[in-house]
Amino acid sequence: MTLFDVPWRGIDRLGQPLELREAGRRDAARYLEHIALIVAETPFMLQSAADPLPDIAEQKDILEEYARRENCVCIVAARPGPPPGKQPIIGSITLVGGRGRRTAHAADLSMGVNRVAWGRGIGGVLLDAVLTWARASPMLRRVSLSVYSENRVAAALYRSRGFAEEGALRRYAKWDGRYDDLIGMGVAVGGPDA
Ligand SMILES: CC(C)(COP(=O)(O)OP(=O)(O)OC[C@H]1O[C@@H](n2cnc3c(N)ncnc32)[C@H](O)[C@@H]1OP(=O)(O)O)[C@@H](O)C(=O)NCCC(=O)NCCS
Repeated sequence: MTLFDVPWRGIDRLGQPLELREAGRRDAARYLEHIALIVAETPFMLQSAADPLPDIAEQKDILEEYARRENCVCIVAARPGPPPGKQPIIGSITLVGGRGRRTAHAADLSMGVNRVAWGRGIGGVLLDAVLTWARASPMLRRVSLSVYSENRVAAALYRSRGFAEEGALRRYAKWDGRYDDLIGMGVAVGGPDA
């Protein structure tokens, strides 16, 4: 198990400086630019490039809500540099915990890295950081995600961090007129009752 507390500063696999930090309201515009880019660059997000994104005011509220709720977090990756905290976001990972008493211990994970930065270890560092956060959480006991059956790179990354495949959601997603299955994955985190 790798520990990565945020904020974190280090280098990526190619030696370029990298910082990870929790996102807040001030990140809304750059976060939306990052999400708009990744949904256009890869078919492996549930959201398509044609789907509307929140506007900046809505995104500010969403990021503030994640920062406020104990079972949610959004961690972003950026190149450090002046002005501090104002560099483009190149990767993100989000946990959204359940709202009700019966699901507050379980959080859904989503993540993405800008294509230009793939293969440099940034996805791995983001996942280590969010799992470190989840394991330290007094509330969370489970992290869940779903991944396209064809997204072998992401599925291998999740398996390498302890996620197990838990079942297939047949024909859950449709792209370019054809259906694909989503694979449900999960990992237990935290607490003596985990
Ligand atoms: C999946 C994703 C987040 C991985 O991010 P990344 O920064 O490229 O990940 P890393 O560089 O940390 O690589 C993770 C692992 O995948 C491997 N990998 C990366 N790109 C690869 C490729 N094109 N082919 C094969 N393996 C690859 C790496 O070698 C690494 O394995 P290792 O740690 O054993 O060396 C990124 O590819 C992405 O954003 N994809 C599109 C969106 C997506 O699929 N999101 C997940 C939805 S469930």
